[in-house]
Amino acid sequence: MYLLGLDIGSSSIKAAIVDASTKQPLAVSSHPPTEMGISAPHPDWAEQDPGIWWSYAQEAITKAIHSAQIDAADIKAIGISYQMHGLVAVDRSGKTVRPSIIWCDSRAVDIGTQAAADLGMDICSQQFLNSPGNFTASKLKWVKTNEPEVYDRIHKIMLPGDYIAMKMTGEITSTISGLSEGILWNFKTQDTATALLDYFGIPEAMLPDVKPTFSNQGELTAESANFLQLTPGIPVTYRAGDQPNNALSLGVFNPGQVAGTGGTSGVVYAVSDQLIHDPEMRVNSFAHVNYTKTDPRIGVLLCINGCGIQYGWLRKLLGDVETNYTELEHLAAKVDIGANDLSIISFGNGAERMLQNQSIGAQMMGLNFNVHDKAHLYRAGLEGIAFAFYYGIQCMKQMGVNVSEMRVGNDNLFQSDIFSETLSSLCGAEINLINTTGAVGAALGAGHGQGIYSSLEEAFDQQDIVKTIKPNHQNEAFQEAYATWSNRLNKLIKS
Ligand code: XUL
Repeated sequence: MYLLGLDIGSSSIKAAIVDASTKQPLAVSSHPPTEMGISAPHPDWAEQDPGIWWSYAQEAITKAIHSAQIDAADIKAIGISYQMHGLVAVDRSGKTVRPSIIWCDSRAVDIGTQAAADLGMDICSQQFLNSPGNFTASKLKWVKTNEPEVYDRIHKIMLPGDYIAMKMTGEITSTISGLSEGILWNFKTQDTATALLDYFGIPEAMLPDVKPTFSNQGELTAESANFLQLTPGIPVTYRAGDQPNNALSLGVFNPGQVAGTGGTSGVVYAVSDQLIHDPEMRVNSFAHVNYTKTDPRIGVLLCINGCGIQYGWLRKLLGDVETNYTELEHLAAKVDIGANDLSIISFGNGAERMLQNQSIGAQMMGLNFNVHDKAHLYRAGLEGIAFAFYYGIQCMKQMGVNVSEMRVGNDNLFQSDIFSETLSSLCGAEINLINTTGAVGAALGAGHGQGIYSSLEEAFDQQDIVKTIKPNHQNEAFQEAYATWSNRLNKLIKS
């Protein structure tokens, strides 16, 4: 008996086949082989065609089944993880009316800021735990204002994972966690965020119906099964945004636990049983996968848009795409902590939430042509991202969130010792690298949704720690380098 997990990322679509009895992946595949394109018709805009996600999902699933060498008829349930906060809008026939406006698109920042000012911070913090920011609801309002003919054709809106579920099952649904990431959920009344919908003049009927995160959310239709080369009737039994899903994959679902990731964007995700929020709205609070109306579980989410994308950009710019990351790490390690006073501020991927949605752009500061070479650039690149994480973790601390241990996957920036040691030392926290990935977590989540595992504890009881990073004794040097970086950053932030 097998489980299929999908991860609809912004750089690729991943698929995992997991053996339900051993909970081990038999295959993890991804498509396309090079990064998926993001179109930016204007600076700070970011769009993708949902139809591409669907056709790449088919490719990734076919590859995974082929490499796992299983009979597709033995797949019992499907789980979906997806890039968060995007807007997908469809007409009555289920066709998208425009490309998706994805998570890192900043066009709706002003709309969200105005909404927060007009509705007042009390409503925003008590009802939504967040400012509307540039999340899904604000993006929809942007379409309403700027593309009225497109808006008029909208039957339903949804998140990227809801779209994939719709293509699979023919049903348009979402989850409470999903609505919360779009600022479409009212945590006080435990219902849709009508105050924001009314303010934007958006009918509630445009929202999808809500299904529990772990439940039968519909079954593969004959048409979708034919397209995906799977058997009709397989249920979709789990769906969550990639960050709550990453936390789940790492066994982070109880209060006090903290997960992290360092992909295109970087995230620290802490679970709380209180409806806590950041009064300054730099850190977000969304419903976690195990949130229920009677037993709330909140994912406190720090997001850094300019994370791995910065390091990838540096590598490309410096002509090192053929050089593997281990070699670059060796090069960067030749330079001392602080990169001889070179700071890279990596906020070049749209508005940064922890800077209250300011787009300050990426900066290289303190560059000296007689001192710095490639190695310094790589070291400063990695440190700059770690410093950004620490800066955000300070904001989380002010909310009462303590980061004493962080669990992360073994498939991104945390594989860099420089990055992980810098962060671990600054926070005084252990970082545990766990051998899993989002698509595998989504498959196990589907196993729980299908009732194969009776609890989340049972589904995620095999946390294979491959490496533990402990704070380095040179803490003073890290603190000094961070002080230089944060002073430079503070000069760039508009107060
Ligand atoms: C989290 C966030 C990003 C996307 C990336 O709030 O916006 O991490 O989920 O897919």
